[in-house]
Amino acid sequence: MIVVAGATGNVGREVVRQLAQTGQPVRALTRDPAKAAVPAGVTAVAGDLGDPASLRPALAGATAVFLLSGYSPDIFTEASRAGVRRVVLMSGGSAETGDRSNAVAGYMIETEAALRASGLGWTMVRPRMFMTNALQWADQVRAGVVRAPWADVPSAVVDPADIAAVAVQALVSADHEGREYPVTGPEALRPGDRVRILAEALGREIRYEPQPDDEARAEMLTQMPQPYVDAFFSFYSDGKLDEATLFPTVIDVTGRPPRTFADWARANADRFR
Ligand SMILES: NC(=O)c1ccc[n+]([C@@H]2O[C@H](COP(=O)([O-])OP(=O)(O)OC[C@H]3O[C@@H](n4cnc5c(N)ncnc54)[C@H](OP(=O)(O)O)[C@@H]3O)[C@@H](O)[C@H]2O)c1
Repeated sequence: MIVVAGATGNVGREVVRQLAQTGQPVRALTRDPAKAAVPAGVTAVAGDLGDPASLRPALAGATAVFLLSGYSPDIFTEASRAGVRRVVLMSGGSAETGDRSNAVAGYMIETEAALRASGLGWTMVRPRMFMTNALQWADQVRAGVVRAPWADVPSAVVDPADIAAVAVQALVSADHEGREYPVTGPEALRPGDRVRILAEALGREIRYEPQPDDEARAEMLTQMPQPYVDAFFSFYSDGKLDEATLFPTVIDVTGRPPRTFADWARANADRFR
């Protein structure tokens, strides 16, 4: 039995789908099973990552777990107690910076460290920027102008389905234990490049306008706590996070190349219409 946390999210939903496709027994962890749409044959199980004891029913009899970072290390104690042998943890590229003073890097580094110390088998999956982040632009895309910050910063954006495919291999085979996997798409793209590719996929004109830092900061402060806003400015304005370097992880682990942003944009075009 494999338990998938974040099972209603961009990556976890794909982990569930791909595991179910191979006939693997899967439990989809969610805070609200009544609302969760899961594939046939998959059980949605209630649990809150913020309350490790609540995970006991989900973890009972599980052998492997897909987990998100940023939660209590007591989750690993619960997993060990339940007999789990292997955890695949999704952190991110910032875990490689070693900068614990950065709020985002800090929670990823802490969770990775706790997992390493837990005695469980582990694989760290460190995706770069998700292609799905472009969905934040959906209203602006509809209006024909996308204003977004960090015009000159390229990111090797990655399809969550490819992140999931790497995670799935690490969940079903012991071959990936003790490995730290940077997961990237096939090309590093600046925000303007991504907008141009979206425009091509949608078959209409969309303009990209670089958003000044002060305007972006004010907007982000309405959406997340200041330490996280500061963390993203440190990454992208101060250049503390390299998301442009390409890695062959997807092809090495799954045997097929990562999807391009154009592939993703064509497949998800309706979500911008
Ligand atoms: N976006 C990026 O570019 C990027 C890049 C690198 C790493 N990451 C990391 O990726 C993660 C986000 O992944 P995602 O996009 O797949 O997620 P997402 O789409 O934002 O969905 C969040 C998922 O987490 C679950 N969740 C949230 N709080 C929970 C709690 N207290 N207990 C149980 N489940 C909880 C939600 O499940 P329910 O609501 O159903 O309970 C949902 O399935 C974050 O950890 C982020 O740091 C993101």
